[in-house]
Amino acid sequence: MSDPSDLPTPGDASPPERLPTHRPVLLHEAIEHLDPQPGEIAVDATAGLGGHAKAIAERIGPGGQLLLLDRDEPNLHHAKSAVGPQTRTLLIHSNFEWLENVLQNAQIPQIDILLADLGVSSPQLDQAERGFSFRRDGPLDMRMNASEGPSAADLVAQLSERELAWIFWEYGEERFSRQVARRIAESRRTEAIRTTFQLADLVRQVVPRERRHQGTGIDPATRVFQGLRIAVNDELGSLERLLKSLPKLVRPGGRVAVISFHSLEDRRVKQAFGDRDVWHRITKKPVTASDEEARQNPRSRSAKLRVVRRA
Ligand SMILES: C[S@@+](CC[C@H](N)C(=O)[O-])C[C@H]1O[C@@H](n2cnc3c(N)ncnc32)[C@H](O)[C@@H]1O
Repeated sequence: MSDPSDLPTPGDASPPERLPTHRPVLLHEAIEHLDPQPGEIAVDATAGLGGHAKAIAERIGPGGQLLLLDRDEPNLHHAKSAVGPQTRTLLIHSNFEWLENVLQNAQIPQIDILLADLGVSSPQLDQAERGFSFRRDGPLDMRMNASEGPSAADLVAQLSERELAWIFWEYGEERFSRQVARRIAESRRTEAIRTTFQLADLVRQVVPRERRHQGTGIDPATRVFQGLRIAVNDELGSLERLLKSLPKLVRPGGRVAVISFHSLEDRRVKQAFGDRDVWHRITKKPVTASDEEARQNPRSRSAKLRVVRRA
């Protein structure tokens, strides 16, 4: 599995003010299985650039209501402009783990549709100052909500060598996790690690040369950056809390779709959706990208879509 930050960013060739060409992952499959109906109340829990949201809005129409959530505020505005005026839309800057409170505040007892398309969006990777990408020199930040919790630089400075190695191994699936953590621990004794390039250079010093030349096209820093990003944003914790809240927030007959990019995410989704008293499976097996989509959009290669209906 590769992290999207290792992939060429389609925005590279565009003027900076323009958004990158956006290809929502498994768009057709997600919408067909969710089957939004006119007048329904839908939540896009990860609005991003609004690609999925726009397709949902087209189906629920002017009588429907669409709640767009994102923990990254600028993305909400991108999503809103992609959706346009075709349905009633509410923008909510929030982690999706707080969906229950969000619905209470909006006085919506239950919803018909929820989509969560996990992970990062291209503007996050493209902007050096967000610190997600080892391809761009910037502050080592990686927070999706730039005003919430410790940054990647804080974790790299404060966690023990053992804890860092665990993050790289568990979340990044980095085979050389201990060596990378040791190199970080040595280096930070003399100089604080504050930038993406500093960290990427340290990783490249210890990940063996052979692997770099295996022709896989994956930068040695990919997995370490992925692991840190998941830890900084507590991505698995948020997903678990969202999944736990859904049974009471989705009306009987309502549908939920989750697109995940990491085996640890998919495992949690599969487990939550496995409760047959609560969920009926719409997709019997996880749906993956067609050969055509995988060719056009490398990020889609690790995507898994699961869709269920509330019993
Ligand atoms: C892969 S992008 C979504 C792309 C979107 N489906 C589209 O078509 O443009 C994931 C988005 O989810 C947001 N996100 C990730 N985890 C989140 C969470 N726990 N709560 C709210 N938003 C989250 C990210 O900030 C990012 O904008």
